[in-house]
Amino acid sequence: MRIVTSAAAMQRLAQSWQRRGTRIGFVPTMGFLHEGHLSLVRIARKRVGVSGKVVVSIYVNPTQFGPREDLSRYPRDFKRDCRLCRAADVDVIFAPSDAEMYPRWGEATNEPAREDARPTFSTYIVEEKISRAMEGASRPTHFRGVTTVVAKLFNLVLPDVAVFGAKDWQQAAIVKRMVADLNFPLRIIVAPTVRERDGLALSSRNKYLDAAQREQATILHRSIQRARVIVKRKSVSAAKLKADMKRFIATAPLGRLDYVEVFEPTTLAPAAQVSRGTHMALAVFFGKTRLIDNARL
Ligand code: PAJ
Repeated sequence: MRIVTSAAAMQRLAQSWQRRGTRIGFVPTMGFLHEGHLSLVRIARKRVGVSGKVVVSIYVNPTQFGPREDLSRYPRDFKRDCRLCRAADVDVIFAPSDAEMYPRWGEATNEPAREDARPTFSTYIVEEKISRAMEGASRPTHFRGVTTVVAKLFNLVLPDVAVFGAKDWQQAAIVKRMVADLNFPLRIIVAPTVRERDGLALSSRNKYLDAAQREQATILHRSIQRARVIVKRKSVSAAKLKADMKRFIATAPLGRLDYVEVFEPTTLAPAAQVSRGTHMALAVFFGKTRLIDNARL
C-alpha cells in the first residue's frame, strides 16, 4: 500500500494506471475510519477486481465545515486508518495537506490585487437545487465545500467508480447530480448504511457522545422504525407524521431535534403525503454533537 500526499503525484499515478487500462475505484473519506467506510472499500474492490486499484482519500476538508463547527476537533487517527486500509487491501491512501488542496486558502480575497500576489484558491462548485434543504439549510456552506472537494478529488484520482454511503443520503444525491450535470466520466455507487447492533448508524462523530447520550442516540433509528410502522398500512400527511416524530424524539431528553423531513429519494422534493417508499431524514443534536440518519420508509 502506498501513501501519497502530493496532489500532482496522485494525478500522475492515476494517469499511469489509466494509460494501462487499469480500473480505478475510489472511496473519499475524512478518516477516523470505521466499518461503514470499510464496507465502501469492499464494494470498490469488488467493482474494479483484483487487477484494479482502490484508492481511499483521507482528508478533513475545511471548506465543508461552518465557522462554529467541529473542524479543529474532528477525530483523527492516521496510523490506525493506515492499518485498517492495509488490512482491507487498499492500494493507495491519498492524504493531502490543506496547502496541497487549497493554496493560500483562508487568506483575504477581496484585497486589491498586487502585482506580486500569489493566486488564492477561489473556484467553487455549487449545486443549486437539492443542496438547499435539510443539511444545506442547517449548514449553509457545507455542500459547496463537499462538491468542490469531491470534484477536485475526482480530477486527481481519476476513478472509474466512486463509492458513497447512503448514511449521507443528500450528499450522495448531490454528488450524483454533479457528476451528471458536469459530465464526470465515472459511476457513483451508493452503499447501504452500516449500523451498530442497536441501530445507531456508524459515524466518526459517535466518538463525541458520552454514555448517556450514546444510549439515547438510538432515537434516530427508532424514529425511522416507528415511521415505517405508521406508513405501512396507509399513507399519512407529512405534517401529521412530522408532528408524531417531534413528539417521539422528545422522549429522548438529551436530544434536540434539528430537522425531520420526508421527500422523494432522487429529487429530494418534499413529500406532502407519506407512504411506503417515501424517504425520511433527520438530524438530532446531543450536546454539540449533531447526528444524522435517513432511510426509505
Ligand atoms: P466521511 O464522513 O468520512 O464519510 C465518508 C464516506 O463514508 C461517505 O460516503 C459516507 O456516506 C460514508 N459513511 C459514513 N458512515 C457510514 C455508515 N455508517 N455506513 C455506510 N457508509 C458510511 O462524507 C464525508 O466523509 C465527506 O463529506 C467527503 C465525501 C469525504 C468529502 O469531504
